[in-house]
Amino acid sequence: MSWIERDLRTLWHPYTQMKDCETLPPILIERAQGLSLFDDQGHEYWDTISSWWCNIHGHNHPKIVEAITRQLATLDHVLFAGFSHKGAIELGERLVDITPPGLTRVFYSDNGSTAVEVALKMSLQYWRNMGRPEKCQFVGLDKGYHGDTVGAMSVSGASAFTQAFAPMLFETHKVPTPDCYHCPKGQCQETCTAACIAELETLLKERHDQIAALILEPLLMGAAGMIVYPAEYLQKAAKIAQQYGVHLILDEVATGFGRTGRMFACEHAEVSPDFMCLSKGLTSGTLPLAVTLTTDAVFDAFYDDYPTGKTLYHGHTYTANPIGCAAAMATLDIFEQEHTLASVQTKAPGFAHRMQGFGDLEHVGHVRTIGLVAAMELVRDKATKTPFDSKQRIGLEIFKQGLKQGLILRPMGDVVYLYLPLCVTDEQVTIILDKTYGILSRLGR
Ligand SMILES: Cc1ncc(COP(=O)(O)O)c(C=O)c1O
Repeated sequence: MSWIERDLRTLWHPYTQMKDCETLPPILIERAQGLSLFDDQGHEYWDTISSWWCNIHGHNHPKIVEAITRQLATLDHVLFAGFSHKGAIELGERLVDITPPGLTRVFYSDNGSTAVEVALKMSLQYWRNMGRPEKCQFVGLDKGYHGDTVGAMSVSGASAFTQAFAPMLFETHKVPTPDCYHCPKGQCQETCTAACIAELETLLKERHDQIAALILEPLLMGAAGMIVYPAEYLQKAAKIAQQYGVHLILDEVATGFGRTGRMFACEHAEVSPDFMCLSKGLTSGTLPLAVTLTTDAVFDAFYDDYPTGKTLYHGHTYTANPIGCAAAMATLDIFEQEHTLASVQTKAPGFAHRMQGFGDLEHVGHVRTIGLVAAMELVRDKATKTPFDSKQRIGLEIFKQGLKQGLILRPMGDVVYLYLPLCVTDEQVTIILDKTYGILSRLGR
């Protein structure tokens, strides 16, 4: 029996209709290096989506491998209540140094969804600890995505990810997404006055007494289809939240660590949140680790004599895992040693310029870019923005074509995107864009 036959007999893959695997079985990957993944048949695929948006410095970066190996030889794991370790302390200090001012406390967990759950729970309990238990509701964007656990799904917009689970979610407020291509206020980029924010303002004005926090993905909304929205929206939303005494949670799980051309996307808007959620790029995609950063004001509201109901009763077995912390420290070292951020800033304008050329293609309705992320929304008819019939499974066709060309293109619905590892070279970008252009230009023929 082949490896894949054994896989399909025993395993259940995420976000996968397993029946699809009858005609499109998973690809058995055996090793990885830099931008490349290699399968058991000797095929090489360039990882243009950073392995679910988490790879930063390329696969198996020697410095991260070395840091992990070194750490494993000294301390593999330690429970993080009543015990600590140097790696967690150093990493915490470093994260406080590089994140926006005001974020002074670091709480560890192990994936993006838990980082979000922690922020929601901290905000809720903050208000309870402050004698304001009625402030227990949350606001999110109607196309937001914050993870697959119950709290994270509840603050996310309704989508295929949440549909089946609606009965188990708690109610939250949803306001219009600043989705410029499908502007909720019928405006275009030239006439935009960020009018979509009016609903948020009205909601907070009327209901701020019951609202604990507003949660946003700053500037780039990944799972919604790589929607890129103006920094001005984030600035205004942050101002409104502050004006009405509502916490701002910024979910930088996908946008953190240089993706958008700044270390954190909120820097584009000079916004400092009450909570920041980080994961994915934190270890450059090597090990599961996450953090929720918050302020002294939040921390202080939990600080009290024992016994007290003010303690934060939340934690995970792998909280602050030492090997994960070592991988994160190495990831941040490489940012400095390889001048990663500066190189993204150098590459991004040329990348954005070349991406605009995709807009000439018959079925590319909209092109949006930020940092080394680009998305192309495919439509059957550009003038009317009519989408393809979902039964056509255009995305799947592009995925297959990509594989033939040695690229992992994994469209979300009809949005084809590139989420390039930050280590990608100009030459590699050129090859990726040429191949992708070729694939998209043959679409529908
Ligand atoms: C913005 C955002 N938040 C949270 C998550 C959830 O992260 P995880 O898959 O690690 O739970 C994701 C995952 O894609 C994300 O894009």
